[in-house]
Amino acid sequence: MRLGPYELSSNLFLSPLAGYTNLPMRLTVRELGGLGWATTDLVNARSLLERNPTALKLVASAPADRPLAIQLFGSVPEEMRDAAVMCQELGAESVDINMGCPVKKVVKIGGGSAMMTELDKTAALVRGMVAAVKIPVTAKMRLGWDDDNLTAPDLAQVLEDVGVAAIFVHGRTRAQGFAGTVNLAGIRSVVTAVRRIPVIGNGDVTTPEAAKHMLEETGCTGVSIGRGAFYDPWIFRRTRHFLQTGELLPEPDFAERLRVLRRHFGRYVEFYGEDHGSRLFRKVAPWYAKRFGPAKPFKNRIITITSRADFEAAIAEYTAWRAQFCDERGELLEKFAPAPLTASFMRDPDEPASTAREAIPVPKGPIDTW
Ligand SMILES: Cc1cc2nc3c(=O)[nH]c(=O)nc-3n(C[C@H](O)[C@H](O)[C@H](O)COP(=O)(O)O)c2cc1C
Repeated sequence: MRLGPYELSSNLFLSPLAGYTNLPMRLTVRELGGLGWATTDLVNARSLLERNPTALKLVASAPADRPLAIQLFGSVPEEMRDAAVMCQELGAESVDINMGCPVKKVVKIGGGSAMMTELDKTAALVRGMVAAVKIPVTAKMRLGWDDDNLTAPDLAQVLEDVGVAAIFVHGRTRAQGFAGTVNLAGIRSVVTAVRRIPVIGNGDVTTPEAAKHMLEETGCTGVSIGRGAFYDPWIFRRTRHFLQTGELLPEPDFAERLRVLRRHFGRYVEFYGEDHGSRLFRKVAPWYAKRFGPAKPFKNRIITITSRADFEAAIAEYTAWRAQFCDERGELLEKFAPAPLTASFMRDPDEPASTAREAIPVPKGPIDTW
């Protein structure tokens, strides 16, 4: 697919996940293949302009980390414009604007004009950014405030008119948070609202089949995956293969999971230093462990690590303990295998609540801005 001037190697995107989609994670996922585009965590425009060290760390990149969009967050037009210029100078392929949900609830009681004011304000801000840079500007939004205010199609149309190169849409309203089902019809209404630019659908894609279903049901050009990549950094490779051939590659085995876990950890240590990197990795490793099968001792141990030696000891202890759940080839016995993942929008609506599979967990954070 095309995004602005770029021809992407796949129509699969890594969604920004504040606190996770740092350079170590992006490099780890990219190396596994299938990913066409990645975006940084959201970065406060003013902090970036002030060269705040945390903001600079968020935009840190490397030659293998391409193509890359930097996601900006802010509401002051001049700051957003100047920060976009800085992203271009830093070598980013694109600037993405975090719009969580820019249109306020004021529209609820006949507030159409208020909504248009908000849209006008947003359009003016975006226009200023588009005019200031040569690289494409994209926007990421939800469907709207709540089910009565599905404003994303209108917003997408306005943004296309002011020169935005692509729209990313998470198929939930702000009121939904991360609960309930992703609304494919809602994503479709954004696809049909724009004329030329690609719309990238997002929300709850945890399997190759779910990505295909989202593409087919909504007509979106690409799919962006966030939490699904926590569980399964191989999801992009497996999904691209499935889209191209219809063949479902098996999920990686335990040895491969450990190999990639080690790569990811090694990059944390390199990027953040051994002590800080080990501490930060405490919240990453449990996601890998969700697909390990029984893993309680590992989850308890890994959240205490402060060094590479601790990390390796945790793996060694766990691997020895896990053997009791495995066959002679070292693979989990069937009855201990984790349940298959299913996207919210792929569930059978008649599935009784008692057997409904766990929704994807949401780590703590400011949902308002996502
Ligand atoms: C921990 C976490 C951090 C997130 N951070 C951001 C962010 O920085 N910017 C953003 O636009 N969305 C953010 N999101 C929203 C995701 O990009 C994505 O839209 C949402 O998680 C739905 O996709 P998924 O079901 O594939 O995870 C975040 C979500 C989570 C769970």
